[in-house]
Amino acid sequence: MWDRLWVNVHLATDARGTGQPGGDDFGIILNGAIAAHGGRIAWVGSQADLPGAPEALAREVTSCDGRWMTPGLVDPHTHLVFGGDRSAEFAERLQGVSYQDIACRGGGILSTVRATRAASEEELLHLTLKRARRLVANGVTTVEIKSGYGLTLEDELKQLRVARAVSRHVPLRVHTTFLGAHALPPEFTGRQGDYVAHLCETMLPAVAEAGLADSVDAFCETIAFQPAEVERIFEAARRWNLPLRLHADQMSDLGGGHLAARWGALSADHVEYASEASVRAMAESGTVAMLLPGAFYFVREHQQPPVALFREHGVPMGLATDCNPGTSPILTPTAVMNMACTLFRLTPGEALAGHTHIAAKALGLDALTGRLRPGMAADMALWDMSGPHELSYWIGGLVPQTRIFGGMPDRN
Ligand code: NIG
Ligand code: FE
Repeated sequence: MWDRLWVNVHLATDARGTGQPGGDDFGIILNGAIAAHGGRIAWVGSQADLPGAPEALAREVTSCDGRWMTPGLVDPHTHLVFGGDRSAEFAERLQGVSYQDIACRGGGILSTVRATRAASEEELLHLTLKRARRLVANGVTTVEIKSGYGLTLEDELKQLRVARAVSRHVPLRVHTTFLGAHALPPEFTGRQGDYVAHLCETMLPAVAEAGLADSVDAFCETIAFQPAEVERIFEAARRWNLPLRLHADQMSDLGGGHLAARWGALSADHVEYASEASVRAMAESGTVAMLLPGAFYFVREHQQPPVALFREHGVPMGLATDCNPGTSPILTPTAVMNMACTLFRLTPGEALAGHTHIAAKALGLDALTGRLRPGMAADMALWDMSGPHELSYWIGGLVPQTRIFGGMPDRN
């Protein structure tokens, strides 16, 4: 007897896009059925092929009235733990002040650092859970959460503990990332090398020993950390066997995509300015190109990520909300999919793949989640829609009717 069985449901089991019109393949099974047992997918197929009457096969049978089941969405790049907001800075940027200018005068990331340091762990958890619950309502079953607004050992640990605590309160799989190299903390002004040394020798080992990070990230940019500094950080991370990812080539081409690939990083994120050499290197290393259209939209970037080159060289393109207070205040993956299609010309199949199994690959979790396949986690979302293209269609996104995490439907 299976735990649960969903019938009268259309399935989009495995999204793939070629970038060609009509080239999308969603792994569709019309009039399907899907079963969960022990938190995993036990059976997927056409309802007509079920090995018996539904009631004889599962303890609980749900009729979905012809709705669509997809894999649960994966959000592989967020900065969910932060205090304050940056709406005043947004208003300034609309008057023409650049993100870089605001950062250079001590605003931007550093203003969120001040608010995050001032917030208690309890307050931060409260704020983060509100955001996590919105992701859940929008169909997310796995999320990555970065630190990077603490920038002292204590404050980074505080952020990471909050990130870890999320899954004790909300049914969500959380992957945590140490992003101590997000900005230079004010205490180290004029001593960037000293901060990098402190990060490598003290902060990273303490974070790793506490078991609070599942991966390590850095912001490689003219206004943040230079490639040579990132390499020192990656070397330290490697000593602790921590997987790598990188904020790369967001505002300029520092060869971040190439650097990420050389170090076997799971993903290089943003990548608007990535060169063809970076794209080739990423193809060779299997590094995911993590596209973040929310940030592109919100900072009114003009440089398009090299989508045609990613396709040509077979670099998998992932999608994430990049939810953060400065460049991407968004918690709706389907809206991100819509932006990826309208702004970057991804196809709806590429967009769904980007927010499911490719996103999972960027977290090292693609054997576990991101597809509807027997043996994988029963992480799913049920949508009232005409077909999987519609997921990328609505401006502002589509909300699922139900989400299922580890075989358990949410109580709406
Ligand atoms: O992913 N690029 C750096 N990090 C964030 C922005 C963080 C912030 O502005 O607070 C990003 O866009
Ligand atoms: Fe980011």
